[in-house]
Amino acid sequence: MATILAIETSCDETAVAIVKNRQVLSSIVSSQIELHRTYGGVVPELASRQHLEIINPCIAQAMSEARLDWQDIDAIASTCTPGLVGALLVGVAAAKTLSMIHNKPFLGVHHLEGHIYASYLAQPELEPPFLCLLVSGGHTSSIHVKDYGEYKLLGSSRDDAAGEAFDKVARLLDLGYPGGPIIDRLAKKGNPKAFKLPEGRISLPEGGYHPYDFSFSGLKTAVLRLVEKLKAEGEVPVADIAASFQHTVAQVLTKRSVQCALDHNLDTITIGGGVAANSGLRKYLTEAAAKHQLKVYFPPLKFCTDNAAMIGCAAAEHFNLGHRSRLNLNVQSRMAISKVMELYEV
Ligand code: KG4
Ligand code: ZN
Repeated sequence: MATILAIETSCDETAVAIVKNRQVLSSIVSSQIELHRTYGGVVPELASRQHLEIINPCIAQAMSEARLDWQDIDAIASTCTPGLVGALLVGVAAAKTLSMIHNKPFLGVHHLEGHIYASYLAQPELEPPFLCLLVSGGHTSSIHVKDYGEYKLLGSSRDDAAGEAFDKVARLLDLGYPGGPIIDRLAKKGNPKAFKLPEGRISLPEGGYHPYDFSFSGLKTAVLRLVEKLKAEGEVPVADIAASFQHTVAQVLTKRSVQCALDHNLDTITIGGGVAANSGLRKYLTEAAAKHQLKVYFPPLKFCTDNAAMIGCAAAEHFNLGHRSRLNLNVQSRMAISKVMELYEV
């Protein structure tokens, strides 16, 4: 059993958790949404400064809520990639410092592997292989979880991430930030079939379309054109537009991930990221999975959105397998999920 203190500062949540293998002993998440709301999106420099200000109180609170002393902690972990470099640096510097002071191993964690581990937290008996659909403000990825530490990216968005599309459409409809929950609420009052919107497809050089990739920027532009046209005509039925947009995104995510799971003989799909909260996606994916005898797991939202418990859970797995990171491990804004093992000395 490994007890890990984990830190997550890759974007706009400052999070610290203490995790014992797949059990969460404490999980502190301080969201910066209010700080960034005025700008309609995350301002990287503000994010880093805010992380710096509250990281130490978050660490102290996580330790006190778990009722542990430093001697009970086996290792210190922090997200080191992908993310905003300045923001990642705060968490990684804090983790390395604690590792040196308390003489504990340090582990860097890939943020997307953390999102995958949210499913293990929610479903401790879950075992690979399975398909993880990761849909957040920064990522839209279908990841084949082949084994522990062994991942293959099967599909991803070529432009906007799914959550980013929700945020941008909400902005052009003047609905506020972040857009996902607002559109989700409004969509309940609208007609999802009111407007036919494009699904977004990626053409292949040899002809046809990529079966699992996504593209949301054309959809966003189609909504923009539709709003301009309706405005010129007089009235903009916001709830119908929200419902039609959400219907299109949820359908395309469902269709392509179910196809991807079936084509790869995977009987389980797990979801991660903030868009996992979307009621349309939950409904369509649950129905489609039942139709094809697939299991589908939506972890509780507190594990789907950015948190440090998922990072601690991934780190515990690596720690138990004997993996350690070097203290000179650098942060990286991007890194393929298939390369996670490069973060460790085995
Ligand atoms: O995973 P997350 O908290 O942060 C990262 O991007 O890493 O995801 C935030 C994203 C935002 O784009 C937000 O609009 C979207 O998740 N989101 C939703 C819903 N709740 C949050 N999108 C659609 N429907 C929702 N109910
Ligand atoms: Zn995330």
